[in-house]
This record gives sequence, structure tokens and C-alpha cells, in this order.
Amino acid sequence: MAYNSPSMTVAVRSFAKINLGLYVGAARADGYHDLRTVYQTIALHDVIRVSVGRGSGIEIACKNKDPRVPLDSSNTCYRMAERVLDELGAKGRVSVEIEKRLPVQGGLGAASSNAVATMVALELVLKKTRTLKKKLSGPTRLRIAAEVGSDLPLFLVGGTALGVGRGEEVYPLPDLPSVPMVVAVPEVGVSTAQAFAEWDALIQGERAAELRSTDGERLTRPGASDRLFEVGCALSAWLSGSPNTGAPAKGGSRAGSLLLDLVRTGIENDFEKVVFPQYPELRDIKGALERAGARYTSLSGSGSTLYGLFRSPADAAKAASRLRKQGVRAEATSTLTRQQYWKKSLVTGR
Ligand code: C5P
Repeated sequence: MAYNSPSMTVAVRSFAKINLGLYVGAARADGYHDLRTVYQTIALHDVIRVSVGRGSGIEIACKNKDPRVPLDSSNTCYRMAERVLDELGAKGRVSVEIEKRLPVQGGLGAASSNAVATMVALELVLKKTRTLKKKLSGPTRLRIAAEVGSDLPLFLVGGTALGVGRGEEVYPLPDLPSVPMVVAVPEVGVSTAQAFAEWDALIQGERAAELRSTDGERLTRPGASDRLFEVGCALSAWLSGSPNTGAPAKGGSRAGSLLLDLVRTGIENDFEKVVFPQYPELRDIKGALERAGARYTSLSGSGSTLYGLFRSPADAAKAASRLRKQGVRAEATSTLTRQQYWKKSLVTGR
């Protein structure tokens, strides 16, 4: 079969994530930080198109020529393609085209999601073009993903997932229902590495003595374990109260309010404490989301994106339009259950 025929390109939707709470622990010996978070995939996405031709090498292109997307070997899609070819012992010239819609340095996991979409698409295209001697096993996929970045493995799970370790250790949670939401994207981008460094500076200050007296392996800030316990109880209550445990809820109003109860239990994103003082406009946008009727608002990851959860799609649409009138880039969307995530991932007809 000839390479580069239309059937040799596979297009995959690369969905974003938000964090429903994010607790940052102390710095580890390897320079990373232990964290606890609930990841949730959402419907906003980039599109990744992968094709394989004769020859060798990896080529990255950005369809909308966003200058913030690197096109060299530092791109997460490049690093992923390299590892997949290596692991499968496959040869060929790999072209990855990124249709960038998600914010860069936005805390929505776009670069991580792009890399996982590259893995999925490349395996599919190699399967179509030649007889693969082997396919990647589940554990290999997770290992490669974690090598490329802490936020990648969650995109091999989708839906609602608990993230621990440096964020790469993921456990699928029974899916929370699809909830209407608004994503607000400020002009600024936030570097994750920088945000962690600022977190270190913060905890080395007034809380240093307190932190030193506790076990570095654990989340050590006062109240963190109590709040985690409360979140755990709320999650169990939601699960035991749901007649279809593990299955996405239909209709969503009761289940949706249960999710809102869960996030209102007191879960917070620690990065707000270091990112808001540096970018006060982000706190203003959070306030604007609250005033527009959001039931729960938060920074996603280390930002700069803020999100709000709403009771209905109409409320979310109205709020997004209100924010746009205030000059904030805002879009109404919804969270994606695991089933929706995988069902919608493949783009048919390219
Ligand atoms: O894993 P990833 O490459 O996405 O991480 C980017 C940077 O963020 C790391 O180099 C590290 O400085 C910081 N980080 C951290 N603790 C984590 C995840 C990331 O300190 N749990």
C-alpha cells in the first residue's frame, strides 16, 4: 500500500482537561512535587493529524501557525512520535499537524493531550499502513506517556481521574456526569515550572517550620488531609447514592448538583495562591465568573485558564457572552465523561 494516500492520515481530537482541586506537596528529591488532584476531561479540543510516508524523521507543523508552538524536537508530539517508533521498531517519515485551538500555557493540558493524541493516531496509522509486529501494551503506553510529561497519562484514561505522585499516577474514578461550564482564557500564559518554583518560595516562607516537622512524603499543609478526607467522603456519598455506579448519569440534573456539592466541599487549587498575586487580572476573571452565576470557579492547573461550572447549558452560554462583553475570551462547553471522551476522539472524514 502506498504511503500518503488519504487513508494514511489519521485525525484525532485532542481534548483538554481541568483540575477539580489541586493540592501541591513539598518538593521531592527528583525536583518534582507530590500532588493530589482530580483531573476531568472537557469538550474543548485541538485536532492532531498524523501521517506516515517513506523515509525517516519527524516533522511537526502547526496548521494555524501559532508562534508559541515549537516545531522542533522539544515539541511533546515529536518526543512522543520518537518513542512510539522506537518502541514498535517502526520506520517511516512521520508528519504531525497540530490544529491549535486550545490556549498555550493555559493549564488545560493541551501540549500533553496533543502528545497522547499523537500516540493514538500514530499507532492507528501504522496499523493501517503495514503489519505491525506488535502493538503497544497498556503499561507501555502509560510509561511512555509519563516519560514525556506528568500530565500525559490522564489522557490515556479520560473522564474523571485521580492524579497522584507527580500527577502521572492516574486512577480512573467512576465518571462524574457531564456538567455545563465556561472556560475563560486570559491573555497571559503561565509557566508550570515557574509556578512550582513560586510555590516553593511561598512554603519556604512563613510555613517552613510547620512543614519541616512533618513527613515530606505526604501533603503537609495544615488542613489539607482534612479537606482531602471530606472530598473522599463526598465522592463516596455520590457513588453510593448513584443507582448506576460507574456509568455516566443521564439527564444530569441530580448528578450535576452532586458534582457541584463535591467541588463545593472545599477543594481548592493551591496554584491560585501564587498565580493570583502575580497576575491580579486572573482573580478578577474568577470574580467575573462568580458574578455571572458559576456554582464553582477555579484556576485550572497552574493557569492561566479559569473555569466555572454551571447548572445548565443556557446559564453557561449566558455567562460566556457576559464575559466576552467585558473583554474576556470565554467559551461555553461541558465536561466529558470517559465514554464521551473515547467515542469522540477519532475524527472521521479527517
Ligand atoms: O512533567 P512536566 O514536564 O509537565 O513538568 C514540567 C515542570 O513542572 C517540571 O520540570 C517541574 O519543574 C514542574 N513539576 C513539578 N512537580 C510536578 C509536575 C511538574 O515540580 N508534580
